[in-house]
Amino acid sequence: MSIGEPRHPMPDLLHESLARHGAGYAKYPPIDGTPGFRAAVGDWLAARYALPEGTLDPDRSILPLNGTREGLFMAVMALAPSTKNGERAAVLIPNPFYQCYAAAALAVGAEPVFVPALAENGWLPDYASLPEDLLARTAFAFYCSPSNPQGAVASRERLGGIAALAEQYDFIVGFDECYSEIYPDGPPPPGGLEAAVAEGVSLDHVLVFNSLSKRSNAPGLRSGFVAGGEGPIQAMKRLRAYAGAPSPLPVLHTAEALWRDEAHVTASRALYREKFALADDMLGGLPGYTAPRGGFFLWLDVGDGEATTVTLWRERGVRVLPGAYLGRGDPRFIDGTNPGSRFIRAALVEPPDTLRPGLAAIADILGAQARHSVEATA
Ligand SMILES: Cc1ncc(COP(=O)(O)O)c(C=O)c1O
Repeated sequence: MSIGEPRHPMPDLLHESLARHGAGYAKYPPIDGTPGFRAAVGDWLAARYALPEGTLDPDRSILPLNGTREGLFMAVMALAPSTKNGERAAVLIPNPFYQCYAAAALAVGAEPVFVPALAENGWLPDYASLPEDLLARTAFAFYCSPSNPQGAVASRERLGGIAALAEQYDFIVGFDECYSEIYPDGPPPPGGLEAAVAEGVSLDHVLVFNSLSKRSNAPGLRSGFVAGGEGPIQAMKRLRAYAGAPSPLPVLHTAEALWRDEAHVTASRALYREKFALADDMLGGLPGYTAPRGGFFLWLDVGDGEATTVTLWRERGVRVLPGAYLGRGDPRFIDGTNPGSRFIRAALVEPPDTLRPGLAAIADILGAQARHSVEATA
C-alpha cells in the first residue's frame, strides 16, 4: 500500500491499438502530437468540464506529455523565471506534495514555498492568505485536486479563486488533475479550466495536467497532456522542441482512442468504489480516518507516521508510506512543523482481498490510539 501505482487491468483497447499502430515507431513524432490526439483531448475536456464552445483551440492549446510528471517539471522550466519584480521568484507548492513540484522550483533557481494543506482548510493550501509581497514575486503555483496524498477535492469556486489570484498577481497556476477520474459516488471533481472560465480569468494564467496513468490504469504508457492558454502552451512547445521527448506515434494513436472511451474508466471507478466502501467499513468511525473524496489514497492521522510505518511493516507485513516523506517543514508556516509527520499514506490500488488484512492492521492501530486517548482523558 506504499506506492500509488494503479493495479486494475489495462483496457483491451490499449493492447489492440498499440499493436495496430506499431509501424509508427519508424517515424519521428511531432512534438505537439497528432491532430487526432489534440482533438480527442479537446473533446474530452470540453465534455468532461462542460466548457463553452471555443474555449480551447486544440491545435494551439494542447500538448501531449509523457505523463504529467515531466510536464509539471517542464512547465516551470519554460515559464518560471528565477527572478520576478526584481526579487527571487517563488513557486507555491501544497504541503504535503508530489516531489516533482519542489524539484522543478529548485531547478530554475526559484524559491519553493511549502504552503500547508491542513484539515482546517479542507486539506488544501490557502494561497489567497499569503502575504502580498510573496504573491507579488510568485511566478508559478501548483495546485492538486483531487489531491495526493489527502484525497481532497477543491470546489469550482475555490479553483476559480486560485485562477483569479494567478491573474491578479501575474503568475501561472498549474492544476495537477491526474486523479480527476477516481472518485466515490457523487458529482465528478471540478477542474481548473471550467473554474477559470466561470471566473472570467484569462487562460494565459492557467495550465491543467492530466494523464492516462490513473484514468486508464496505464502508468507505463507514459501518456498525458497539458492544456491551457496559448501563451504558456506555446512557450512549453518551444522548450519541448529542443529538450522534450516527443510522445511516439503509436502511443498518441492509442491515447486518442483511450480519451474517447469512457467505458473502461467507469469500470475502473467501480472497482475503486468497492475499495472506498471497504475502507469505510473497516475504518469508518475511527479517529484519524477521513474518507477520501477523490484519488486512491487514505491519509491517516496516526500520531507518528514514521513509527507507525515501522510497526505496520515489522509486526504485520503491511507497507505504507510515512506522511513526513511527502511533506516538508517550512519555517514560515506552523512553526516549521512538517504537516505530514502525524500521518501515513495507504494506497488502495490492490484488490480488496489483498487490502483487507492491511486495513485490518491499520484499524487495530487507529483503534488502539483511540483507546489510549480515552484512557489519557480518564
Ligand atoms: C499528484 C501527482 N501528480 C503527478 C503524478 C505523475 O503521474 P504521471 O506522470 O504518471 O501522469 C503523480 C503520480 O503518482 C501524482 O501523484
